[in-house]
Amino acid sequence: DWTPASFIETTVQELKEQLGDDKVILALSGGVDSSVTAVLLNKAIGRNLTCIFVDHGLLRKNEFETVLENYEHLGLNVIGVDAKTYFYKELEGVTDPERKRKIIGKGFIDVFDREAHKLEDIKWLAQGTIYPDIIESLSITGVTIKSHHNVGGLPEKMHLKLCEPLKLLFKDEVRKIGLELGMQPHLIHRHPFPGPGLGIRILGDITPEKVRIAQDADDIFISNLRTAGLYDKVWQAGAILLPVQSVGVMGDERTYENTVALRAVTSTDAMTADWAHLPYEFLAKVSNEIINKVKGVNRVVYDISSKPPATIEWE
Ligand code: XMP
Repeated sequence: DWTPASFIETTVQELKEQLGDDKVILALSGGVDSSVTAVLLNKAIGRNLTCIFVDHGLLRKNEFETVLENYEHLGLNVIGVDAKTYFYKELEGVTDPERKRKIIGKGFIDVFDREAHKLEDIKWLAQGTIYPDIIESLSITGVTIKSHHNVGGLPEKMHLKLCEPLKLLFKDEVRKIGLELGMQPHLIHRHPFPGPGLGIRILGDITPEKVRIAQDADDIFISNLRTAGLYDKVWQAGAILLPVQSVGVMGDERTYENTVALRAVTSTDAMTADWAHLPYEFLAKVSNEIINKVKGVNRVVYDISSKPPATIEWE
């Protein structure tokens, strides 16, 4: 019978046999999948695992610092890399969603490649790929829905073998394993966040100023979900900065500013999702707070589309 404990026991044993004394590098994203992968590998091979956590400048507000601290607490051997400037430059003027994903994906590869070369004798690249990532990237019908940047590509370029211990699991199973491994519940119950981050939640081109707006709006939305006790009731949530300006009024002044869309969904595996039926009073509070506090936003809308036919992300 499958239990988190039996999975851990079997997998740690398999990893020990598969990896021996080899050195492994792993890309931490701050998310549940890569974090659980790291802790699992740490249990199997200890200091032979080096984790790299890259700040691509498209993370949530204060995420990099907070998460890096968490990782150090978990006893992981982790290197934090600030690559914001590099990513902003690469993304300048780019509006096409798949091109953004490709650029961010390639940026990751380049940064890791650089870091990996500073280390000696790395043989393996470990990734927190889970089953839905693989399915969504497969061209069953000849059409790739969205290219998930954390699937494929990396090992060839880096001449590394690929280690993906969670690739047959769904999210809820990964969470159970994380808890069984003794990871903090708040780390385990974090909402999924896409690898390309705010890069695909800022529709159109990306600028540091737009990142600031998206981060501030997102932070207000997520903090309010937490205080209202709604965070754990939704699968994931976030703010999307639309490339739309509209007319508003502030005091006696006419404004012509940005629109933020709030997205919150319920789901069990991200393959299908329903929009979260958040209370009106809650939405009103979040909307007011965003419009009052986030400079550059004068309108907030709520996304009431389900997946399918809409996707969870807007890009
Ligand atoms: P969609 O938008 O396809 O999202 O309904 C399904 C789940 O996947 C996440 N997502 C991504 N994760 N790289 C990732 O690592 C990506 O490019 C990517 N695009 C979407 C999304 O947040 C949701 O959880």
